[in-house]
Amino acid sequence: MIDLHTHILFNTDDGSKSIEDSVSLIKEEIDNGFKKIVLTPHYMENTKYNLTYLENLNKFNELKDQVKDLDIELYLSNEILVTESIIDLINNNTIKEINNSKYILIELPLNGSIRYLSTVLFNLNTKGYIPIIAHPERYVSLQNKKENIKILLDYDVILQGNLGSMIGTYGNKSKKLYKWFLKNDLYQVLSTDIHRPNKINIKKALKKTSRYIGKNKLDLLTNINPNNIINNLDIEINNKYFTK
Ligand SMILES: [Fe+2]
Repeated sequence: MIDLHTHILFNTDDGSKSIEDSVSLIKEEIDNGFKKIVLTPHYMENTKYNLTYLENLNKFNELKDQVKDLDIELYLSNEILVTESIIDLINNNTIKEINNSKYILIELPLNGSIRYLSTVLFNLNTKGYIPIIAHPERYVSLQNKKENIKILLDYDVILQGNLGSMIGTYGNKSKKLYKWFLKNDLYQVLSTDIHRPNKINIKKALKKTSRYIGKNKLDLLTNINPNNIINNLDIEINNKYFTK
């Protein structure tokens, strides 16, 4: 499997607090069955989580050196909190797409407005980018009215669910919405979004998700699609929500 969303890179955000924790997290990922991991430190404008790609790259190289004997491939990107300056931030190398592809991971404030996000999605699509929306099941506006997801589906977007949602890591509302997204084929990717060692039982989350959608579908969302994203290939989007 390939994990597209993690906070493993030490001292860059609210994730790993030391290089030792980063190594532990990578070992945990290997144990859970991951072969490739994209490190996606938060980039939040005007907050303390605003390290540039070059600053992250120094830490990334240090960490890579520590795990060079392990069977894992690492990539460095970001999870960007939605902002109108996103294109400028990419162009001036402050933030980084996934493996130089057209895909970029973005998030909303949990209480943010979905309509605000749509302006940014339009601008990104116009420039040829395909945003990957992190954990839509966690957004209050969607928890209150799941049909609001239609606003986002007018654009070329990928929806990425957090595996932990299946086992209630983010509460019941997220769990319920995660299952609804799964049932309607609305996710293209599932990832861990891990921050700390031994916090989320990913094996259990994978097992329960697999029981819910089947092995082949789980393979599509955790292996085939993430691999295509890393290789800048297209992802097939075919959701039941619109074909019913
Ligand atoms: Fe995240």
